[in-house]
Amino acid sequence: MTEHTVAVLAGDGIGPETTREALKVLAAVERASGERFRLEHAPFGAAAYFEHGHPFPQQTRDLCAKADAVLKGPVGLSHEKAAEIPVELQPERGGVVPLRGHLETFANLRPVVLPAELAHVSPLRDRIVGEGLDLVMVRELLGGLYTGDKHRGRDEHGRRFVAETLRYDEEQIRRVVRFAFELATKRKGVLHNIHKRNILESSVLWNEVVEEEAAHFPDVDVVHMLVDAAATHLCLDPAQFDVMVMENLFGDILSDQGGGLIGSLGLMPSACIGPERAYYEPAHGSAPDIAGGDVANPYSMIGCVALMLEHSFGLPEWSRRIFAAMRRVFRAGYATADLAESGSVLKPVGTAAFGDLVVEQLSKDEGS
Ligand code: NAI
Ligand code: MG
Repeated sequence: MTEHTVAVLAGDGIGPETTREALKVLAAVERASGERFRLEHAPFGAAAYFEHGHPFPQQTRDLCAKADAVLKGPVGLSHEKAAEIPVELQPERGGVVPLRGHLETFANLRPVVLPAELAHVSPLRDRIVGEGLDLVMVRELLGGLYTGDKHRGRDEHGRRFVAETLRYDEEQIRRVVRFAFELATKRKGVLHNIHKRNILESSVLWNEVVEEEAAHFPDVDVVHMLVDAAATHLCLDPAQFDVMVMENLFGDILSDQGGGLIGSLGLMPSACIGPERAYYEPAHGSAPDIAGGDVANPYSMIGCVALMLEHSFGLPEWSRRIFAAMRRVFRAGYATADLAESGSVLKPVGTAAFGDLVVEQLSKDEGS
């Protein structure tokens, strides 16, 4: 029997309530698979700041470094409440970005999957969505504007100014690009390289590295596309994409657009992968507007468990089963309120009820 240690950082807002459902599903996998998961809960985010004075306390750092994987709920406060925390200790700057550096998670895998059962929830027309969508965005997660030097000051006229640096070295680019090529070989053999080389020097270097790596992957067709054009193509013809690779900020923005294409950010799990460690978090934030109301969609957190089983624990079959169980819940006609709008064929259920339905479907699948 293998025992896997999972650091659980439930986070803020809808983090705790969606993490609870994800852990229900993990417990169901444990019962059925014979694998053992040792959960170690740790404070992180705004809640950790208010309780321990820091969004990423030392005890949480230590735990994340030694755990086999980290399952992280979203963090953050509403715009108004965020002002109660000094800027450098706000949960994303003081918690999420340092966590990424700590675990060296350079590649962020963001699947944009709209199951056929949910094709009607996309705001795009049937003709465009067809039988659903299945593409994956690979976002560089450690460099660019997120971690470059930042400086605020006053210029010679006394005007406030800000300067922040978009910095990449070729190895930073190469490892994420190679990761995306490898993924493309396992999928359809097409890689869309998203860039802005007509304006940004960083994209010129990025594209040089893409060309160098392409020579090692002759079976992958590379399509170069400007990031602004990609935003339009995603709306007009998303089915042309399979694997997309891009730098940090482009990936942050386009992947939220991906959530829009499939009808809800609540359908967006993600995997943050480093050379030795990985952590899993939904692509969305803490949704303070709906927190605590038992309405949040736990699909993204449950999907994080599925991605963790596949990428950290070598259990891709259990990952497949979890996603299949969630699809069967939709097929049975149930979904959370973000998907089951009034007039929809889907019946709205709460966060906890959705988790229970997934566990029920998963247990029916045992041995199949
Ligand atoms: P958000 O992603 O939390 O919410 C955007 C919209 O999507 C809201 O209407 C929300 O209700 C909805 N939504 C998101 N997840 C949902 C789910 N699972 N089910 C149903 N509806 C869902 O973005 P927002 O409101 O801009 O940010 C809220 C906080 O989250 C901010 O403090 C932000 O900094 C933080 N944040 C944290 C991230 C992280 O932990 N990595 C990533 C993105 C934002
Ligand atoms: Mg984001």
